[in-house]
Amino acid sequence: MLDKLKDLEKEVLKMIGGVESVTGLETIRIKYLGRKGELTAFLRSLHKMAEPKRRTIGRKANELKKKIEKTIDDNKTLLQKGLIEGKVKEEWIDVTQSGTKRLLGHLYPVTQAIEEIRCIFESMGYEVVDGPEVEDDYHSFGALNILPEHPARDAWDTFYLTNGLLMRPHTSPVQIRTMKKRKPPLRFIVPGRVYRYEAEDATHLSVLHQLEGFAVDSNISFADLKGTLLSLMRSLFGKKTKLRFRPSFFPFTEPSAEVDVTCVVCGGKGCRSCGGDGWVELLGAGMIHHQVLRNVGYNPEKVSGFAFGIGLDRIAMIKYRIEDIRDLMKNDLRFLRQF
Ligand code: FA5
Repeated sequence: MLDKLKDLEKEVLKMIGGVESVTGLETIRIKYLGRKGELTAFLRSLHKMAEPKRRTIGRKANELKKKIEKTIDDNKTLLQKGLIEGKVKEEWIDVTQSGTKRLLGHLYPVTQAIEEIRCIFESMGYEVVDGPEVEDDYHSFGALNILPEHPARDAWDTFYLTNGLLMRPHTSPVQIRTMKKRKPPLRFIVPGRVYRYEAEDATHLSVLHQLEGFAVDSNISFADLKGTLLSLMRSLFGKKTKLRFRPSFFPFTEPSAEVDVTCVVCGGKGCRSCGGDGWVELLGAGMIHHQVLRNVGYNPEKVSGFAFGIGLDRIAMIKYRIEDIRDLMKNDLRFLRQF
């Protein structure tokens, strides 16, 4: 019997030594020490044995039971420790290592220009309005005193849709829409995208951005227009900025002017950005034509107003010293990240 116990001890300890998982150890425990286990059965059979042999064998068998239990428990602890250490090693993080740099975007240069101009005008008491990019003929031309067949339409040739509507070639239709809805005194700006049938070059785009501005009140004069534009341009480009008003023609303003600003790329000497003459044409402006005031139901004997339309891409060009306006539309991040 003692030999049988010794063989069992050797067999169990060898099996335990060869197991590398906690579940494997549990299987061995059940095989020998479980309710139907081999050593359990042996212990149960002892009552058939006579004394004093029973006492001796019984003691040895109980010692073996404890030894197996302890060996299994010790090995389980070791395996679990190893598992934890392995996990810690595997999932170790160096918290001192510098992280992955996330790319942060920023506002498109024209949007930045819009925001800056919006702040300047809001400080002068202007409100911001919006209007549709798909427009009708009446708001784009008719109400602005540009009648059908008038050659001035050529300057605002655009993309026509099959349903008779068109892509607005300027932001001026929003003047009409706003004046029809509201009564003077009015001070509004309208930033937005416009479309032109245009051959693109270093200073011309066919999809561009404009900012319309207009004020209507009982006593508005050309001096108010000049003062407003000068304080806008000086806030944007610096105190030394000069404006040049060239007499011009717009059917919806009388008198009308094209307004140029000194080129900041060359300081007025002449370069590719300004086409060589030191000035960049930025906007069209004038006093709102009496017929336009009548078209929206105002009495030109009682109210007057000024209006202007600024090229926002040209503003971005000057502000960020961009030599070719088409670069703004190329969606090249190497270019856009500079601003
Ligand atoms: C107009 O669009 C008028 N609606 C402006 C206006 C409003 C006049 C209110 C009077 C009263 P014009 O076509 O000149 O005018 O355009 C105004 C400005 O938009 C130009 O001075 C220029 O800065 C910009 N612009 C015009 N065409 C282009 C283009 N193809 N590419 C880039 N900028 C342009």
